Amino acid sequence: MTSETIALVTGANKGLGMETSRRLAQQGMIVLLGVRDLEKGAQAVDALPDLDVTPVELDVTREDHISAAKDYIENRFGRLDVLVNNAGMIHPEEPLFANSAETVSPVALKETFGVNFFGQVALTQALLPLIKKSTAGRIVNVSSILGSLTLHSDKNSDATGVKPLAYDASKTALNQFTVHLAAALADTSVKVNSAHPGWVKTDLGGHLAPMDVTDGAKTAIHLTTLGPDAPSGKFFHFDEEIPW
Ligand SMILES: NC(=O)c1ccc[n+]([C@@H]2O[C@H](COP(=O)([O-])OP(=O)(O)OC[C@H]3O[C@@H](n4cnc5c(N)ncnc54)[C@H](OP(=O)(O)O)[C@@H]3O)[C@@H](O)[C@H]2O)c1
Repeated sequence: MTSETIALVTGANKGLGMETSRRLAQQGMIVLLGVRDLEKGAQAVDALPDLDVTPVELDVTREDHISAAKDYIENRFGRLDVLVNNAGMIHPEEPLFANSAETVSPVALKETFGVNFFGQVALTQALLPLIKKSTAGRIVNVSSILGSLTLHSDKNSDATGVKPLAYDASKTALNQFTVHLAAALADTSVKVNSAHPGWVKTDLGGHLAPMDVTDGAKTAIHLTTLGPDAPSGKFFHFDEEIPW
């Protein structure tokens, strides 16, 4: 077993996932880039020169990919120290700046939950035996403040006009997973937290977003490197706790 820190970042071929991978690898971690298209994975490796990054085929909605990724990590490293559940999507049917509660289709709901919730849960459950073998396992669920029921209940909040139901509800569900899994792992050294990156310029966030990926990746990076006394089962933006 290697003494280096082994990390897996999903959705690592672009956007926040690629930047998070870059920064973890720059800190000396061995980073596995979860990508659903290995060609895009090879391009990501080229974009991250001189860093210890390896693409792993991983569509989080595919059981065969999850199982193969688990076998690969187990055979090569015997454990996993850091899991960043970053892969995510907003359905093309849902405009970001609208309330889709009256219109969103069951198909869009299922497809969005498939990636943003079911996929994250399935992957995490499959990898947990390997994460429990780490001396300081860290799981980061990349959520969004759009999953915050507190914020959506406040008519004066910034989220008032941003109500794509499938996306927002999938992030609320992911937050619930954070709370439940942290409780289940309370007697272990594994910490599980949700991250809100901010509104970030990526394909998902769009070009109007005020933040770039350098700042957008900071919250997830912070949560991967929490010390033993840090909290688990919380929701953060940068190092500030935010309401569910
Ligand atoms: N940007 C923002 O303002 C913002 C704000 C709050 C939260 N977030 C969250 O941050 C995370 C990263 O988003 P981003 O802004 O970096 O978006 P992005 O640039 O669109 O990247 C999304 C990544 O997820 C991958 N992905 C999509 N479906 C997948 C699947 N089934 N299996 C595995 N990977 C899949 C994509 O792969 P392909 O290239 O193959 O499609 C891509 O690598 C998401 O969870 C998002 O909800 C973003």
